[in-house]
Formats: sequence, structure tokens, C-alpha cells
Amino acid sequence: MRPLIVIGNWKMNGSLASNADWVKTVCRGMEQGMPSGRQYAFCAPFPYLSQCGQLIRDCSLAFLTLGAQDVSAHTTGAYTGEVAASMLKEMACKFVIVGHSERRQLHQETDELVAEKALQALDCGMTPVICVGESADERNSGREVEVVRGQIAKQVAVLQDRLADCLIAYEPIWAIGTGLSATPEQAQSMHEFIRGRIAGYDEKAANTLRILYGGSVNPINASQLLVMQDIDGGLIGRCSLDANDFEKICLAAASVFTTSTH
Ligand code: PGA
Repeated sequence: MRPLIVIGNWKMNGSLASNADWVKTVCRGMEQGMPSGRQYAFCAPFPYLSQCGQLIRDCSLAFLTLGAQDVSAHTTGAYTGEVAASMLKEMACKFVIVGHSERRQLHQETDELVAEKALQALDCGMTPVICVGESADERNSGREVEVVRGQIAKQVAVLQDRLADCLIAYEPIWAIGTGLSATPEQAQSMHEFIRGRIAGYDEKAANTLRILYGGSVNPINASQLLVMQDIDGGLIGRCSLDANDFEKICLAAASVFTTSTH
């Protein structure tokens, strides 16, 4: 059993005022009839984590939790501008996105660094959301499986049995922020491949590990993606910024959860 999870990734968006409106709107919606037994989270920019943690506590919904969008690979020390996992933990973060393609591309993050960041999150009791996925060029040249295989192999090499405590997010780069989602079949096929690779190292972990899909998920395509056998949730960028859209995607997950074998 792999309970569906929907995680919003606000990226570099938000303000004190709009965050408060967002959390209040989502909480109001969730109070009216979300079935229990699944998870929803959102990853806010660092400066807003304290505020968002408080807003969540105020609305006291146990299944809406907080995450961060990145973490340092170091524990403490002279790393100007970086944020340690222990600090995120103190801000009540449950999840940390690591290796998002925007960080891989814009900040030259390598698979090794991503795995080190995941370890930091795990050591502080948080769940890393490890992002993988191919570029448009890689898919167009038929190399998407090879690329993702390499990314997963590097995570396995460093994290080993601790991978079981992570989430993986398959986010094809060509689908991120473009409005062009992968089809449910394309996503399912890659998720199945990822699960199969992990099963090669640890069969039990592969069965319980949740693999999220990210890339232009919206209220219209969410249920078609989430109903697929190996898609265990969504990582939502643009459509997590609008509280009503995010809530609709959460509702889609809620109804899939109650009717499918996930
Ligand atoms: P998107 O972003 O939903 O806007 O495509 C997803 C992500 O970057 O995590």
C-alpha cells in the first residue's frame, strides 16, 4: 500500500500576505470533506517556512505538512547562504526537495551532491524528495531511460537501503512549466522502470517506495496521471500557486486513493 501524496513546489514565489491567504483557503477546502489516510504538503521558500509552519498549526490539519525546496549538503559551518537540514527540521519541515532540475541546470548540482543532500535530510528525520528526469534532447534522441537509469544508480550507490525512506519524483524537464505534461502512459512507463531498477537492489523497498510525477500537472490531468499503477503522487509547480487549483489536485488524489489499488 502506497498512500498517494501531493506536494506543492512554490519555487521562488509568495509573500507574507499571499501565503496567509493560500494556507487559509486550502485549509478551508480540506476541512470540508477530504478523506483521511493520504498526505499533502507544500514547499515554501526558506524565509517563509516559519510563517507557513505557524499557519499550518493554526489550521490544525494533520495531513497538510511543510517542506523546503533545497538543503545544504553540509551539517554546519562556513557556507554562506546555505541552509542546514537541522534548521529546516526546526522550522517543522517534513520534506525537502533535492536535485530539482532547476538546481541541477542553474546551479550545476550533480547526482553525488543531490545524494549528499538527501542524506542530510534523512539524518535530521525528514523525507527527501529526490528529483530525476531527462531533458527534451535526451528524450528526442531516445536516451530517456538511460539518463534516468544513471541518475537512480547514483542515488542507490550513496543512499543504499536508506533510499527506502525517500520519495522519488520523476520530472521530465521538457514537461516542467511548459503546460506539456507527459502522458499517463509515458509517466507510468518511466515509473515502472524506476521501480524495477530499485527492485534490483531491494525488492521490499521498491514495493513501498513512492514515486511522484511532476511536470505540468493541473486539475484536469491530475486524476488520469494519479490513477496509474506506479504513480504514487504529484509534485506540483505552477498549479500549486493557486490555492483553488492545488485543492482541486488534492481532491483528485483523494478520490483516486479511495478507488484504486494504490
Ligand atoms: P510545473 O513544475 O508543475 O510548473 O510543471 C513542477 C516542478 O517543477 O516541480
